Amino acid sequence: MTNNFRVFATCDIGDALNILRTRGYQLEVYPEPTAPPKALVLEKVRSGIDGLITTLRDQIDAEVFEAGKGTLKVVAQLAVGFDNINRADANRYNVPFTHTADVLTEATAEFAFFMFGSLARKMWPAEHLTRENKWGFWHPYLPFLGDEVTGKAIAIIGTGRIGLAMIKKCSGFDMNILCYDPAYQNLVYVTAIQDTMDLRHARGIQKEKTWIKYVSIDEALSQADFVSVHVPLIREGESATPTFHLFNERTLRMMKRTAFLVNTSRGPVIDENALAKALKENWIAGAALDVYEKEPLSEDSPLRDSAIEDRCRLFPHFASAAKITRLSPDPDKGMAGRCVQGLIDVLEKNYGGDIKKMPYVVNKEAF
Ligand code: GLV
Repeated sequence: MTNNFRVFATCDIGDALNILRTRGYQLEVYPEPTAPPKALVLEKVRSGIDGLITTLRDQIDAEVFEAGKGTLKVVAQLAVGFDNINRADANRYNVPFTHTADVLTEATAEFAFFMFGSLARKMWPAEHLTRENKWGFWHPYLPFLGDEVTGKAIAIIGTGRIGLAMIKKCSGFDMNILCYDPAYQNLVYVTAIQDTMDLRHARGIQKEKTWIKYVSIDEALSQADFVSVHVPLIREGESATPTFHLFNERTLRMMKRTAFLVNTSRGPVIDENALAKALKENWIAGAALDVYEKEPLSEDSPLRDSAIEDRCRLFPHFASAAKITRLSPDPDKGMAGRCVQGLIDVLEKNYGGDIKKMPYVVNKEAF
């Protein structure tokens, strides 16, 4: 098949791009590892491209849609989150945009779980001890002990795809689960997990009985030993349930002093100044972050304070960064494959050209 569609990708997303080349697309890929300047994106869009492949680093707003008025037919984002794309602006210009939900669900949830493991079992200070040759003797409790996750309570804040996958992984570790979601409750899933927990207990796979339930955010934060954040970033005025700074001085103070917080969702869901204070003043036991209010994390971030280094793990927006998840050209396995397929669906008018039926289009309401 030959197509003459012109596409600009703001980033190299690997072999999946060959699917477009094979189909005859004229593809230009920004060659640098950093994001292109907005002016360059505008220039490319103004030149009449049909499709734009983006990452979460690109700000896609009215300026971009205006530049592509009459020519830009789709924005295909390599991410599940799309807070960098102004949905109202996309709708105003009737440009569909796609995302890569589902294929990164398990990878993100497992990484969140590993972050808890690293925090709770003090893997970072333990490795430092060994490497710096400070491991002078084996001792039952010196120089420090970690906390088990087995049998503890975890609060899952946000029960969308990734929150549910996290619930599944935590139930495998015999944890009790407090669920909170500002917008939606999946009682069918929660009931299925409770049934699975009961069966595991009845068949002797887990020793203690465990439970799962939806609760208020206050209950979730005050009762949990671990708190895992899985909400999308929604700023004030964007919906009735904003999540911007959902974690602030007030909500952080609700958590147990022994509790750990992990964020793999979006940085601005947590007020970083408040979190740094919470860690410094021991309102909570520790935190691990994969996302930040501003990325990359600035050199002067209070989260880098050496006084909290032992209990603050920092990762580079890395939760979905696994080989198959990021790069597989298969749209059912990889973000790259799904991103490319979303672009093709819109440009080649798959599903009879009905955008409402295209699985990866986010803003179906615009049509
Ligand atoms: C990563 O953060 C994503 O939204 O896919």
